[in-house]
Amino acid sequence: MKKAQRHPFAETLITWYADHARDLPWRRTNDPYVIWMSEIILQQTRIAQGLPYFYKLTEAFPSVYDLAAADETTLFRLWQGLGYYSRARNLHKTAKYVVDMLGGKFPDSYTELIKLPGVGPYTAAAIASFAFGEASPVVDGNVYRILARYFGIETDILHSSARKEFTALAQELIPSSDPARFNQAIMEFGSLQCSPAPDCGSCPLRTSCVAHRENRINQLPVKSKSKPQRIRQFQYFIIEQDGKVLVHQRQAKDIWQGLWEFFCVESSSIEEAINSHPFLSPLMAHAVALQAPAIHVLSHQKIISAAWLLQLPAEFSFKIPQDYQWILSSEFEQLGKPVLLLNLITDNIALKEILEG
Ligand code: ADE
Repeated sequence: MKKAQRHPFAETLITWYADHARDLPWRRTNDPYVIWMSEIILQQTRIAQGLPYFYKLTEAFPSVYDLAAADETTLFRLWQGLGYYSRARNLHKTAKYVVDMLGGKFPDSYTELIKLPGVGPYTAAAIASFAFGEASPVVDGNVYRILARYFGIETDILHSSARKEFTALAQELIPSSDPARFNQAIMEFGSLQCSPAPDCGSCPLRTSCVAHRENRINQLPVKSKSKPQRIRQFQYFIIEQDGKVLVHQRQAKDIWQGLWEFFCVESSSIEEAINSHPFLSPLMAHAVALQAPAIHVLSHQKIISAAWLLQLPAEFSFKIPQDYQWILSSEFEQLGKPVLLLNLITDNIALKEILEG
């Protein structure tokens, strides 16, 4: 059945947006490349912080061909300060894929867009609607908050069923006549009006908002307490000698069970790590600090790591710690290892050369 009429929610939202929309550069285009770039930048980043990066990156790489042809170092230098470097890595990977496999033409549907590295449901819906006019609703924390309040939905937004339920509702609400405007409007409404601590007095939806009527603005959306995040600090020592590297396989009930890693001490400082493992002390004369991923986020843990490369002369002798073994450096590539270490290797050319030849 054709959606003949807009839901009053959509009607009011779109009218509100006409008066309140901020003039943002990615709203003045329907070029999927530019929109994709803006959405990747805005993942985990506020507009004020992302805006200068958007200008810098679109100026350096005006088209997907420029980005695909760029070397990663240039891209990373421009990305510096924005964090979450996997976004930059995926940006490059996707640009190369679009150029090499799709002849430079971006996929033009949600279903195809979501297959791109770094593109999740929210980003795919944003690009599909803004660039191609597809009625795919964006659903993120802002949208959960608006819909939970307006319709009085009690579903825990951290529950696995929440995305499906809120997406189905948003799909009902998004008008097929102008889905892009609806998506921009709901994003803007979540940022400027229906914020975590809103001013409901100025809200155009307040008369029909369940949470406002029942005085439950502060109770909705329902969000169960997530497990507190544990912060851990790992000091890595990449000990290399005679074409071999010291490794062990992680055991026990901990993260990364069964994966391989270099000599690792869980400790808040290098000094403490050396004090608790005295064999390291004479080795440190050969240590070079590496650029370690600053923070690696797992579901309930944050890992802060530091890393040192210790290339020991062949004649240097020491007793290797229990549970560790030497393997040929060239064999390290074949072992399963945590993403943190993959990133460490990617970010440090000296290490990459040792391990990958
Ligand atoms: N956050 C994520 N995407 C956005 C967009 N297109 N406009 C404003 N804020 C956003």
